[in-house]
Amino acid sequence: MNSKTVLITGASSGIGKALALAYAEMGYLVYAGGRNQQRLDELVLENANIKPLVCELTNKKALIAASGDLPQLDILILNAGNCEYINDAVNFDSDLFARVITTNLISVGYCLEAWLKLVKPGGQLVLTSSSAQFLPLPRAEAYGASKAGLSYLAKTLSIDLQNSHIDVSLIHPGFVSTPLTDKNDFPMPSIISTAQAADYIVEGINKRKAEINFPKHFTYLMKLISLLPFSIWKKLATRMNK
Ligand SMILES: NC(=O)c1ccc[n+]([C@@H]2O[C@H](COP(=O)([O-])OP(=O)(O)OC[C@H]3O[C@@H](n4cnc5c(N)ncnc54)[C@H](OP(=O)(O)O)[C@@H]3O)[C@@H](O)[C@H]2O)c1
Repeated sequence: MNSKTVLITGASSGIGKALALAYAEMGYLVYAGGRNQQRLDELVLENANIKPLVCELTNKKALIAASGDLPQLDILILNAGNCEYINDAVNFDSDLFARVITTNLISVGYCLEAWLKLVKPGGQLVLTSSSAQFLPLPRAEAYGASKAGLSYLAKTLSIDLQNSHIDVSLIHPGFVSTPLTDKNDFPMPSIISTAQAADYIVEGINKRKAEINFPKHFTYLMKLISLLPFSIWKKLATRMNK
């Protein structure tokens, strides 16, 4: 029996759920975070190594109150997130903008305040950003800004946590088929399943990789295009947006 412990946020659905099941099957004690109690209860029935951690991550007080009995952690995976698009940039929706930044970035600060001190020396912190942060994409003002901020945060933590012997892994997934992407009304090239995503992530975490980018051909292309002068990408993206 593996006596290691992992806490995963956003484990009631999609990528986080696949990760929770993967770590539970490896014998980890898994604290599975989410808001949807029913879906977390169903997840617990799939593997007895999974413990539900019901909390709204944008509410710092509730988050800290829900964290009372947590043990020390080998791995902390901050994966929860949401995506909403700015469909009319001229009539900018600042409530939407604040909602997305709060869920994807500010709440990560709350999680770090509550849980980073629980990570053992030699442990790992993992943050799920997005390959969307490599390139400014149409309608992604809120989502892209939140994930660009998250990637910067992860890289800075990677430097500042070295002396505390905590390794940081930053995940940049391409498209993964989940309830989050089910809402998309545009083509999603190279889309993969949550099980494939979990395989890439677990392998990257095992290797303590600083960046976990997948699928490679997709993220390499995004990175390559990001090296072009912005004026070229702006023309292409504007055409895509018509
Ligand atoms: N799918 C993709 O193609 C893709 C690509 C790049 C990056 N990502 C990133 O991967 C992560 C997981 O996404 P996914 O595709 O697996 O999405 P998903 O299936 O919609 O799952 C999102 C998870 O985040 C949780 N969550 C959202 N807001 C929360 C809040 N305020 N408090 C607590 N939990 C909250 C949800 O919990 P409840 O449902 O219980 O509320 C759910 O468990 C996100 O950070 C996303 O940005 C996804």
